[in-house]
Amino acid sequence: MKIIVCNSYEEMSAAAGKLYVDLLTEKPDAVLGFATGSTPLGLYQFLAEQNKAGVIDFKDVTTFNLDEYYPMDPAHDQSYRYFMNKNLFDNINIDKANTFVPDGTAKDVETVGAAYDAAIDAKGGIDLQLLGVGRNGHIGFNEPDTALVAGTHVTDLTDDTIDANARFFEKKEDVPTKAVTMGMGTIMKARQIVCIISGANKHAVIEALQNDLVTTDCPATFLKMHPNVTILCDKEAYEG
Ligand code: GLP
Repeated sequence: MKIIVCNSYEEMSAAAGKLYVDLLTEKPDAVLGFATGSTPLGLYQFLAEQNKAGVIDFKDVTTFNLDEYYPMDPAHDQSYRYFMNKNLFDNINIDKANTFVPDGTAKDVETVGAAYDAAIDAKGGIDLQLLGVGRNGHIGFNEPDTALVAGTHVTDLTDDTIDANARFFEKKEDVPTKAVTMGMGTIMKARQIVCIISGANKHAVIEALQNDLVTTDCPATFLKMHPNVTILCDKEAYEG
């Protein structure tokens, strides 16, 4: 696992973007795993700019997002589908039929996850998975717990995550208490992972990544067991 400290959020976003330029240059039909949250916004702007400038092409790209609130209508302005359309897919030349976000309207919570994992496998697996981290060390919506789940599944959100995400909703009570998320095994199957971490409130996660422990108390520490992970953080996150 490489930890690269960038001077600024912009530098971090561009450094992550460079990994996409390199991958798409080599493999124009790559399968990309995307994430939501504030942290990827700079990267998504960078990708849209590179696409507009003709440096990268998304025509043959397939994408799978990490997670979606549950239950959640994709047309809702706080859905992750809505977020992805607005912040990336509407701004690049991707075929939306090739963009997948877990189904927040699924009736059957038992099968929704397995179907998502099967869809990823059917496309040949994820070449490059983007991750942010929650301030409690969650990745996707794999929250700290005594055990973590391997496959994509419906999960409860912790109070800390509900608090952190309340800023996007009118009031805390409006934040969904559940989500469908790729599981730890789904994430770890990606051939390459880039994890972007910005801001002093994520410093504890950087600290947990620097020692040699893997713990379900901080799901991001599982990344230490993956053979091809780049952690990109800004100075604020690194220094705390
Ligand atoms: C949500 C998402 C995560 C994301 C996290 C951090 O909880 N499920 O995938 O990494 O938010 O968000 P932010 O980048 O806004 O701090």
